[in-house]
Amino acid sequence: MVTGIHHVGIAVADLDESIDLYRSALGAELLHRARSDRDGLEAAFMSTGAGEVELLSPTTEDSPVGKFLARRGPGLHHVAYGVTDIAQALDEARGAGLELIDPEPRMGMHGAMIAFVHPKTMGGVLTEFVQT
Ligand code: CO
Repeated sequence: MVTGIHHVGIAVADLDESIDLYRSALGAELLHRARSDRDGLEAAFMSTGAGEVELLSPTTEDSPVGKFLARRGPGLHHVAYGVTDIAQALDEARGAGLELIDPEPRMGMHGAMIAFVHPKTMGGVLTEFVQT
């Protein structure tokens, strides 16, 4: 069902500073930077070789990432798995009793269809499926 870990999402307070950190510490390359007013965040996708890191910073304090940062501070926000058929992946997740945040796939910030699964049914980890 999943083809691998597609990326790991990390909530950060300062996006520019974090991009510089991942560049200098890991040699990661900035692939794409995008802002979502719907989700109230700005994201930077960094290449780390086989997988990506998605750095997320809130654009408003009352956005989900803004609340996450206020409550828990910077750190791991979500794990994203690549899937070849996202509709099938969501059907299987539903069948396994997972609670879907996005019952239908939606367009993500890097041009691929995505859907989120609630952390409470995935061992406390916000989980994302990405159509690959
Ligand atoms: Co993501």
